Amino acid sequence: MSPSAPNNPPHEPTDGTLILGIETSCDETAASIVEWRDGAPHVLSNVVSTQHEIHARYAGVVPELASRAHLERIVPVVREALRSADLQGKHVSAVAVGNRPGLIGSLLVGNAAAKAYAWSLGIPVIGIDHIAAHLVAGLLDAPPVRWPALGLVASGGHTHLFRMDGPRSMTLLGRTIDDAIGEAFDKAATLLSLGYPGGPLLDERSSLGDPAAMRFPTPRLTARSAREGGQSTERTLDFSFSGMKTALLYAVRGIPPVANRPAPRPPLPLTEQRVSDLAASFQSAAVNQVMDVLKRALERLEAENDRPATLLVGGGVTANRHLRAELTQFGTTHGIDVRLPAQKYCVDNAAMIAALAHWRYAAREHDTLRLAPRSHSMLGRC
Ligand code: KG4
Ligand code: ZN
Repeated sequence: MSPSAPNNPPHEPTDGTLILGIETSCDETAASIVEWRDGAPHVLSNVVSTQHEIHARYAGVVPELASRAHLERIVPVVREALRSADLQGKHVSAVAVGNRPGLIGSLLVGNAAAKAYAWSLGIPVIGIDHIAAHLVAGLLDAPPVRWPALGLVASGGHTHLFRMDGPRSMTLLGRTIDDAIGEAFDKAATLLSLGYPGGPLLDERSSLGDPAAMRFPTPRLTARSAREGGQSTERTLDFSFSGMKTALLYAVRGIPPVANRPAPRPPLPLTEQRVSDLAASFQSAAVNQVMDVLKRALERLEAENDRPATLLVGGGVTANRHLRAELTQFGTTHGIDVRLPAQKYCVDNAAMIAALAHWRYAAREHDTLRLAPRSHSMLGRC
Protein backbone atom coordinates (compact mmCIF):
# COMPACT_ATOMS: atom_id res chain seq x y z
CA MET A 1 0.00 0.00 0.00
CA SER A 2 1.45 3.42 -0.89
CA PRO A 3 1.85 5.88 2.00
CA SER A 4 -0.97 8.05 0.65
CA ALA A 5 -3.47 5.20 0.16
CA PRO A 6 -6.54 5.61 2.38
CA ASN A 7 -7.48 2.89 4.89
CA ASN A 8 -11.12 2.95 3.87
CA PRO A 9 -12.39 1.49 0.55
CA PRO A 10 -11.67 3.58 -2.57
CA HIS A 11 -13.97 6.56 -2.97
CA GLU A 12 -15.52 6.15 0.50
CA PRO A 13 -15.62 9.50 2.29
CA THR A 14 -13.44 9.93 5.36
CA ASP A 15 -14.80 10.56 8.86
CA GLY A 16 -14.46 14.14 10.02
CA THR A 17 -14.57 15.71 6.52
CA LEU A 18 -16.69 18.88 6.40
CA ILE A 19 -18.27 20.30 3.26
CA LEU A 20 -20.07 23.61 2.76
CA GLY A 21 -23.02 23.22 0.38
CA ILE A 22 -24.70 26.06 -1.52
CA GLU A 23 -28.01 25.81 -3.42
CA THR A 24 -29.67 28.54 -5.51
CA SER A 25 -31.15 26.67 -8.49
CA CYS A 26 -34.71 28.00 -8.19
CA ASP A 27 -36.40 30.05 -5.46
CA GLU A 28 -34.60 28.89 -2.31
CA THR A 29 -31.29 30.39 -1.18
CA ALA A 30 -29.65 27.71 0.94
CA ALA A 31 -26.37 26.85 2.63
CA SER A 32 -25.38 23.96 4.86
CA ILE A 33 -22.42 22.32 6.54
CA VAL A 34 -22.40 18.53 6.37
CA GLU A 35 -19.89 16.35 8.20
CA TRP A 36 -19.08 12.75 7.24
CA ARG A 37 -19.29 10.55 10.32
CA ASP A 38 -19.78 6.80 10.91
CA GLY A 39 -20.34 6.04 7.24
CA ALA A 40 -23.01 8.69 6.65
CA PRO A 41 -23.50 12.43 6.08
CA HIS A 42 -24.52 14.38 9.20
CA VAL A 43 -25.98 17.89 9.04
CA LEU A 44 -24.30 20.48 11.28
CA SER A 45 -26.32 23.38 9.89
CA ASN A 46 -29.07 23.82 7.33
CA VAL A 47 -30.19 27.33 6.41
CA VAL A 48 -32.92 27.88 3.80
CA SER A 49 -34.34 31.25 2.81
CA THR A 50 -37.43 30.72 0.63
CA GLN A 51 -38.79 33.33 -1.74
CA HIS A 52 -42.40 32.15 -1.75
CA GLU A 53 -43.61 35.55 -0.61
CA ILE A 54 -41.99 37.16 -3.69
CA HIS A 55 -43.44 34.79 -6.29
CA ALA A 56 -46.87 34.03 -4.73
CA ARG A 57 -48.69 36.81 -6.52
CA TYR A 58 -47.50 35.51 -9.91
CA ALA A 59 -48.44 31.88 -8.97
CA GLY A 60 -45.02 30.80 -10.25
CA VAL A 61 -41.33 31.61 -9.99
CA VAL A 62 -40.26 34.79 -11.86
CA PRO A 63 -36.62 34.11 -12.83
CA GLU A 64 -35.37 37.69 -12.73
CA LEU A 65 -36.88 38.31 -9.29
CA ALA A 66 -35.44 35.01 -8.06
CA SER A 67 -31.87 35.82 -9.07
CA ARG A 68 -32.05 39.30 -7.53
CA ALA A 69 -33.29 37.85 -4.24
CA HIS A 70 -30.48 35.23 -4.28
CA LEU A 71 -27.96 38.03 -4.71
CA GLU A 72 -29.26 39.82 -1.62
CA ARG A 73 -29.48 36.69 0.51
CA ILE A 74 -26.53 34.49 -0.40
CA VAL A 75 -23.88 36.04 1.87
CA PRO A 76 -26.07 36.24 5.02
CA VAL A 77 -27.30 32.68 4.40
CA VAL A 78 -23.76 31.26 4.06
CA ARG A 79 -22.61 33.23 7.12
CA GLU A 80 -25.50 31.84 9.15
CA ALA A 81 -24.71 28.28 8.00
CA LEU A 82 -21.09 28.69 9.13
CA ARG A 83 -22.10 30.31 12.43
CA SER A 84 -24.78 27.81 13.40
CA ALA A 85 -22.57 24.81 12.51
CA ASP A 86 -20.42 25.86 15.47
CA LEU A 87 -17.23 24.66 13.77
CA GLN A 88 -14.94 25.53 16.72
CA GLY A 89 -11.77 25.72 14.66
CA LYS A 90 -12.59 22.73 12.40
CA HIS A 91 -11.89 23.34 8.72
CA VAL A 92 -14.15 22.97 5.73
CA SER A 93 -12.55 20.76 3.05
CA ALA A 94 -14.56 21.82 -0.03
CA VAL A 95 -17.37 24.06 -1.24
CA ALA A 96 -20.12 22.25 -3.15
CA VAL A 97 -22.68 24.04 -5.27
CA GLY A 98 -25.73 22.92 -7.22
CA ASN A 99 -24.63 24.05 -10.68
CA ARG A 100 -27.25 22.19 -12.81
CA PRO A 101 -30.12 22.06 -13.72
CA GLY A 102 -32.06 25.20 -12.82
CA LEU A 103 -32.77 28.82 -13.66
CA ILE A 104 -29.58 30.13 -15.15
CA GLY A 105 -29.67 33.54 -13.41
CA SER A 106 -30.30 31.86 -10.04
CA LEU A 107 -27.58 29.26 -10.56
CA LEU A 108 -25.10 31.98 -11.50
CA VAL A 109 -25.40 33.59 -8.07
CA GLY A 110 -24.69 30.38 -6.14
CA ASN A 111 -21.87 29.42 -8.50
CA ALA A 112 -20.14 32.78 -8.23
CA ALA A 113 -20.45 32.69 -4.44
CA ALA A 114 -19.19 29.11 -4.17
CA LYS A 115 -16.15 29.84 -6.32
CA ALA A 116 -15.37 32.98 -4.34
CA TYR A 117 -15.54 31.08 -1.01
CA ALA A 118 -13.49 28.19 -2.40
CA TRP A 119 -10.84 30.51 -3.82
CA SER A 120 -10.57 32.61 -0.68
CA LEU A 121 -10.36 29.53 1.57
CA GLY A 122 -7.93 27.76 -0.79
CA ILE A 123 -10.13 24.66 -1.06
CA PRO A 124 -11.75 22.89 -4.05
CA VAL A 125 -15.14 23.73 -5.52
CA ILE A 126 -17.40 20.84 -6.58
CA GLY A 127 -20.35 21.31 -8.96
CA ILE A 128 -23.32 19.08 -8.10
CA ASP A 129 -26.32 17.93 -10.13
CA HIS A 130 -29.43 19.03 -8.25
CA ILE A 131 -31.49 16.00 -9.34
CA ALA A 132 -28.85 13.54 -8.15
CA ALA A 133 -28.57 15.47 -4.88
CA HIS A 134 -32.31 15.01 -4.15
CA LEU A 135 -31.65 11.25 -4.12
CA VAL A 136 -29.25 11.39 -1.19
CA ALA A 137 -31.54 13.56 0.99
CA GLY A 138 -32.86 10.39 2.66
CA LEU A 139 -29.31 9.46 3.71
CA LEU A 140 -28.81 12.63 5.80
CA ASP A 141 -28.47 11.83 9.51
CA ALA A 142 -29.43 8.23 8.74
CA PRO A 143 -27.61 4.86 8.89
CA PRO A 144 -25.37 3.83 5.95
CA VAL A 145 -27.22 2.53 2.93
CA ARG A 146 -27.01 -0.69 0.88
CA TRP A 147 -26.69 -0.66 -2.92
CA PRO A 148 -27.97 -1.14 -5.60
CA ALA A 149 -30.92 1.17 -5.21
CA LEU A 150 -33.90 2.41 -7.14
CA GLY A 151 -33.99 6.21 -7.06
CA LEU A 152 -37.11 8.34 -7.54
CA VAL A 153 -36.98 12.13 -7.82
CA ALA A 154 -40.43 13.77 -7.61
CA SER A 155 -40.06 17.53 -7.56
CA GLY A 156 -41.39 20.73 -9.06
CA GLY A 157 -39.14 20.45 -12.10
CA HIS A 158 -38.41 16.71 -12.37
CA THR A 159 -39.90 13.25 -12.20
CA HIS A 160 -37.07 10.79 -12.82
CA LEU A 161 -36.48 7.14 -11.99
CA PHE A 162 -32.96 5.71 -11.76
CA ARG A 163 -31.16 2.48 -11.05
CA MET A 164 -28.16 3.30 -8.86
CA ASP A 165 -24.97 1.41 -7.96
CA GLY A 166 -23.97 4.33 -5.74
CA PRO A 167 -24.49 8.08 -5.53
CA ARG A 168 -22.08 8.66 -8.43
CA SER A 169 -23.31 5.84 -10.62
CA MET A 170 -26.84 6.02 -11.90
CA THR A 171 -28.77 4.92 -15.00
CA LEU A 172 -32.00 6.62 -16.03
CA LEU A 173 -34.90 4.12 -16.23
CA GLY A 174 -37.71 6.59 -16.92
CA ARG A 175 -38.86 10.17 -16.65
CA THR A 176 -41.88 12.33 -17.27
CA ILE A 177 -42.62 12.93 -20.92
CA ASP A 178 -44.45 16.19 -20.15
CA ASP A 179 -45.09 17.95 -16.80
CA ALA A 180 -43.16 17.16 -13.64
CA ILE A 181 -45.37 15.82 -10.86
CA GLY A 182 -44.83 18.89 -8.63
CA GLU A 183 -45.65 21.20 -11.53
CA ALA A 184 -48.87 19.20 -12.04
CA PHE A 185 -49.76 19.57 -8.34
CA ASP A 186 -49.08 23.31 -8.54
CA LYS A 187 -51.22 23.75 -11.67
CA ALA A 188 -54.02 21.64 -10.19
CA ALA A 189 -53.96 23.79 -7.07
CA THR A 190 -54.18 26.95 -9.21
CA LEU A 191 -57.19 25.51 -11.11
CA LEU A 192 -58.86 24.81 -7.78
CA SER A 193 -57.91 28.31 -6.47
CA LEU A 194 -56.06 26.82 -3.50
CA GLY A 195 -53.11 29.25 -3.57
CA TYR A 196 -49.34 29.05 -3.96
CA PRO A 197 -47.19 27.00 -3.70
CA GLY A 198 -49.87 24.53 -4.63
CA GLY A 199 -48.45 21.12 -3.69
CA PRO A 200 -48.64 21.45 0.11
CA LEU A 201 -52.06 23.16 -0.08
CA LEU A 202 -53.46 20.41 -2.31
CA ASP A 203 -52.03 17.82 0.07
CA GLU A 204 -53.80 19.49 2.99
CA ARG A 205 -57.10 19.94 1.14
CA SER A 206 -57.11 16.32 -0.02
CA SER A 207 -57.62 15.11 3.53
CA LEU A 208 -61.16 16.59 3.38
CA GLY A 209 -62.14 14.96 0.08
CA ASP A 210 -63.11 11.63 -1.47
CA PRO A 211 -60.24 10.22 -3.58
CA ALA A 212 -62.74 8.13 -5.58
CA ALA A 213 -64.96 11.09 -6.53
CA MET A 214 -63.41 11.51 -9.98
CA ARG A 215 -61.57 9.03 -12.21
CA PHE A 216 -58.52 10.44 -13.97
CA PRO A 217 -57.06 8.96 -17.18
CA THR A 218 -54.24 6.47 -16.50
CA PRO A 219 -51.42 6.86 -19.02
CA ARG A 220 -50.18 3.65 -20.66
CA LEU A 221 -46.93 4.80 -22.17
CA THR A 222 -45.33 2.77 -24.91
CA ALA A 223 -43.96 6.00 -26.32
CA ARG A 224 -40.42 4.94 -27.08
CA SER A 225 -41.50 2.12 -29.37
CA ALA A 226 -44.16 4.28 -30.99
CA ARG A 227 -41.65 7.07 -31.57
CA GLU A 228 -39.41 4.60 -33.28
CA GLY A 229 -42.30 3.41 -35.44
CA GLY A 230 -42.44 -0.01 -33.77
CA GLN A 231 -45.52 -2.02 -32.80
CA SER A 232 -44.37 -2.99 -29.31
CA THR A 233 -46.91 -2.65 -26.54
CA GLU A 234 -44.29 -3.02 -23.81
CA ARG A 235 -44.83 -0.26 -21.29
CA THR A 236 -42.02 2.13 -20.51
CA LEU A 237 -41.08 3.35 -17.04
CA ASP A 238 -41.93 6.93 -18.04
CA PHE A 239 -44.52 9.18 -16.42
CA SER A 240 -47.11 11.60 -17.82
CA PHE A 241 -49.15 14.11 -15.86
CA SER A 242 -50.50 16.51 -18.50
CA GLY A 243 -53.57 14.37 -19.33
CA MET A 244 -54.61 14.47 -15.68
CA LYS A 245 -54.20 18.21 -15.64
CA THR A 246 -56.45 18.60 -18.72
CA ALA A 247 -59.05 16.28 -17.17
CA LEU A 248 -59.09 18.48 -14.08
CA LEU A 249 -59.39 21.62 -16.22
CA TYR A 250 -62.49 20.17 -17.93
CA ALA A 251 -63.96 19.05 -14.60
CA VAL A 252 -63.63 22.60 -13.26
CA ARG A 253 -64.46 24.70 -16.33
CA GLY A 254 -66.46 22.28 -18.47
CA ILE A 255 -65.65 20.38 -21.66
CA PRO A 256 -65.28 22.75 -24.65
CA PRO A 257 -68.08 22.35 -27.23
CA VAL A 258 -67.26 20.72 -30.59
CA ALA A 259 -69.07 21.69 -33.84
CA ASN A 260 -71.89 19.29 -34.90
CA ARG A 261 -71.78 17.43 -31.59
CA PRO A 262 -74.31 17.60 -28.77
CA ALA A 263 -73.43 20.29 -26.22
CA PRO A 264 -71.39 18.76 -23.37
CA ARG A 265 -72.87 18.66 -19.88
CA PRO A 266 -71.97 21.72 -17.80
CA PRO A 267 -69.46 21.09 -14.98
CA LEU A 268 -70.74 20.37 -11.47
CA PRO A 269 -70.83 23.49 -9.28
CA LEU A 270 -67.47 24.08 -7.61
CA THR A 271 -68.64 23.84 -4.01
CA GLU A 272 -66.13 23.59 -1.15
CA GLN A 273 -66.77 19.83 -0.98
CA ARG A 274 -66.32 19.45 -4.76
CA VAL A 275 -62.94 21.25 -4.52
CA SER A 276 -61.83 18.85 -1.76
CA ASP A 277 -63.05 15.83 -3.77
CA LEU A 278 -61.22 16.95 -6.91
CA ALA A 279 -58.03 17.64 -4.90
CA ALA A 280 -58.17 14.20 -3.27
CA SER A 281 -58.93 12.44 -6.57
CA PHE A 282 -56.12 14.25 -8.38
CA GLN A 283 -53.60 13.48 -5.63
CA SER A 284 -54.66 9.85 -5.52
CA ALA A 285 -54.33 9.44 -9.31
CA ALA A 286 -50.89 11.10 -9.39
CA VAL A 287 -49.60 8.96 -6.51
CA ASN A 288 -51.09 5.78 -8.05
CA GLN A 289 -49.20 6.47 -11.25
CA VAL A 290 -45.92 6.83 -9.38
CA MET A 291 -46.52 3.64 -7.40
CA ASP A 292 -47.48 1.73 -10.54
CA VAL A 293 -44.22 2.73 -12.27
CA LEU A 294 -42.21 1.81 -9.16
CA LYS A 295 -43.85 -1.65 -9.01
CA ARG A 296 -43.12 -2.31 -12.68
CA ALA A 297 -39.53 -1.10 -12.27
CA LEU A 298 -39.02 -3.50 -9.37
CA GLU A 299 -40.54 -6.40 -11.35
CA ARG A 300 -38.29 -5.60 -14.29
CA LEU A 301 -35.12 -5.48 -12.18
CA GLU A 302 -36.11 -8.67 -10.34
CA ALA A 303 -36.61 -10.43 -13.68
CA GLU A 304 -33.03 -9.39 -14.53
CA ASN A 305 -31.75 -10.75 -11.20
CA ASP A 306 -30.88 -7.24 -10.17
CA ARG A 307 -33.11 -6.66 -7.14
CA PRO A 308 -32.49 -3.29 -5.45
CA ALA A 309 -31.87 -3.35 -1.68
CA THR A 310 -33.00 0.23 -1.22
CA LEU A 311 -35.45 2.77 -2.59
CA LEU A 312 -34.12 6.33 -2.43
CA VAL A 313 -36.65 9.10 -2.92
CA GLY A 314 -36.39 12.88 -2.90
CA GLY A 315 -37.82 16.14 -4.18
CA GLY A 316 -40.57 18.43 -2.87
CA VAL A 317 -43.41 16.02 -3.71
CA THR A 318 -41.95 13.35 -1.41
CA ALA A 319 -43.22 15.63 1.39
CA ASN A 320 -46.74 14.60 0.29
CA ARG A 321 -48.42 12.60 3.04
CA HIS A 322 -50.30 10.21 0.77
CA LEU A 323 -47.19 9.47 -1.30
CA ARG A 324 -45.12 8.91 1.86
CA ALA A 325 -47.70 6.46 3.21
CA GLU A 326 -47.74 4.54 -0.08
CA LEU A 327 -43.92 4.46 -0.27
CA THR A 328 -43.68 3.15 3.28
CA GLN A 329 -46.22 0.44 2.43
CA PHE A 330 -44.22 -0.41 -0.71
CA GLY A 331 -41.12 -0.96 1.41
CA THR A 332 -42.98 -3.26 3.81
CA THR A 333 -44.67 -5.25 1.04
CA HIS A 334 -41.52 -5.75 -1.02
CA GLY A 335 -38.90 -5.92 1.73
CA ILE A 336 -37.02 -2.85 0.49
CA ASP A 337 -35.32 -0.25 2.68
CA VAL A 338 -37.21 2.94 1.71
CA ARG A 339 -35.35 6.12 2.62
CA LEU A 340 -37.90 8.90 3.03
CA PRO A 341 -36.10 12.21 3.62
CA ALA A 342 -37.15 14.26 6.64
CA GLN A 343 -39.74 16.85 5.51
CA LYS A 344 -37.16 19.67 5.63
CA TYR A 345 -34.87 17.77 3.24
CA CYS A 346 -37.61 16.95 0.68
CA VAL A 347 -37.78 20.49 -0.67
CA ASP A 348 -34.72 22.28 -2.01
CA ASN A 349 -31.88 22.56 0.49
CA ALA A 350 -28.09 22.70 0.51
CA ALA A 351 -27.51 19.75 2.88
CA MET A 352 -28.28 17.32 0.05
CA ILE A 353 -25.80 19.20 -2.18
CA ALA A 354 -23.03 18.93 0.45
CA ALA A 355 -23.92 15.28 1.12
CA LEU A 356 -23.51 14.22 -2.50
CA ALA A 357 -20.29 16.22 -2.71
CA HIS A 358 -18.76 14.02 0.03
CA TRP A 359 -18.63 11.07 -2.39
CA ARG A 360 -17.25 13.23 -5.19
CA TYR A 361 -14.64 14.77 -2.88
CA ALA A 362 -13.54 11.31 -1.76
CA ALA A 363 -13.17 10.30 -5.42
CA ARG A 364 -11.16 13.49 -6.00
CA GLU A 365 -13.73 14.70 -8.52
CA HIS A 366 -13.04 18.38 -7.96
CA ASP A 367 -13.94 21.17 -10.35
CA THR A 368 -11.92 24.26 -11.20
CA LEU A 369 -12.80 27.93 -10.99
CA ARG A 370 -14.00 27.54 -14.58
CA LEU A 371 -17.07 25.70 -13.22
CA ALA A 372 -20.14 27.11 -15.01
CA PRO A 373 -23.85 26.78 -14.30
CA ARG A 374 -26.01 24.81 -16.76
CA SER A 375 -29.75 25.00 -17.18
CA HIS A 376 -29.93 21.26 -18.00
CA SER A 377 -28.90 18.15 -16.15
CA MET A 378 -26.49 15.78 -17.82
CA LEU A 379 -28.10 12.70 -16.22
CA GLY A 380 -29.50 10.33 -18.86
CA ARG A 381 -31.83 11.78 -21.47
CA CYS A 382 -32.19 15.18 -19.81
O1 KG4 B 1 -37.73 19.86 -4.80
P1 KG4 B 1 -38.44 21.16 -4.84
O2 KG4 B 1 -38.34 22.03 -3.61
O3 KG4 B 1 -38.00 22.03 -6.05
C1 KG4 B 1 -37.62 21.49 -7.29
O4 KG4 B 1 -36.48 20.99 -7.39
O5 KG4 B 1 -38.48 21.56 -8.19
O6 KG4 B 1 -39.96 20.82 -5.14
C2 KG4 B 1 -40.96 21.80 -5.14
C3 KG4 B 1 -42.26 21.13 -5.54
C4 KG4 B 1 -43.39 22.12 -5.79
O7 KG4 B 1 -44.03 21.78 -7.00
C5 KG4 B 1 -44.31 21.90 -4.60
O8 KG4 B 1 -45.66 22.20 -4.86
C6 KG4 B 1 -44.11 20.42 -4.35
O9 KG4 B 1 -42.72 20.24 -4.52
N1 KG4 B 1 -44.52 20.01 -3.00
C7 KG4 B 1 -45.54 19.16 -2.75
C8 KG4 B 1 -45.65 19.07 -1.34
N2 KG4 B 1 -44.69 19.86 -0.78
C9 KG4 B 1 -43.99 20.43 -1.82
N3 KG4 B 1 -46.35 18.49 -3.59
C10 KG4 B 1 -47.29 17.69 -3.05
N4 KG4 B 1 -47.48 17.57 -1.70
C11 KG4 B 1 -46.69 18.24 -0.82
N5 KG4 B 1 -46.86 18.10 0.48
ZN1 ZN C 1 -35.27 20.41 -6.20
